Amino acid sequence: METIIKKQGIVKAKSNAAQGLRDLFEAELKEMFWAEKSMIPALKKMTKNASSPELIRALKKHLTETEEHITRLERTFDSIGNKADEKKCKAMEGLIKECEIMMSETELGDVRDAGIIAAAQKVEHYEIATYGTLHAYAVTLGEEKAEELIAMTLAEEKKVDAALTKIALSNINIDAADLDDEW
Ligand SMILES: [Fe+2]
Repeated sequence: METIIKKQGIVKAKSNAAQGLRDLFEAELKEMFWAEKSMIPALKKMTKNASSPELIRALKKHLTETEEHITRLERTFDSIGNKADEKKCKAMEGLIKECEIMMSETELGDVRDAGIIAAAQKVEHYEIATYGTLHAYAVTLGEEKAEELIAMTLAEEKKVDAALTKIALSNINIDAADLDDEW
């Protein structure tokens, strides 16, 4: 007789649970499509709340790139024979919410700028992780066009992350730290 061992903490799969890597790939693509689209208003809000011209420039540039990332995701769906579709990404929803809270908890100027950079970098790191995973899936699944499109976006996300670090190190964090001294 078969012994069924019930382990505690094992999550029961839903009826529509992923059966293989392709299902995971498609599910992740849908979440990223939602996430990138949600970043458009979020980046606009961050830009409005930023003071440093350098930071404003970087955010505006990334807004244009994000629009391109959305188009690229549509092309990725197309390349695998699917219609572009979205599914709410709870991680990105949380990161955007955190950014809004942070803006309300900082005075406009250097301190809010430092906070915006921190929030934007969290978003970028999340995107880098997800596009990295999507890229690996596309390689394994032999989806060459998707692999190429995802690699392009991944490179841009890494670049903006590095640019934000540079802005933070060049002046914003130092100026924000100076404000600490004034107390
Ligand atoms: Fe991004």
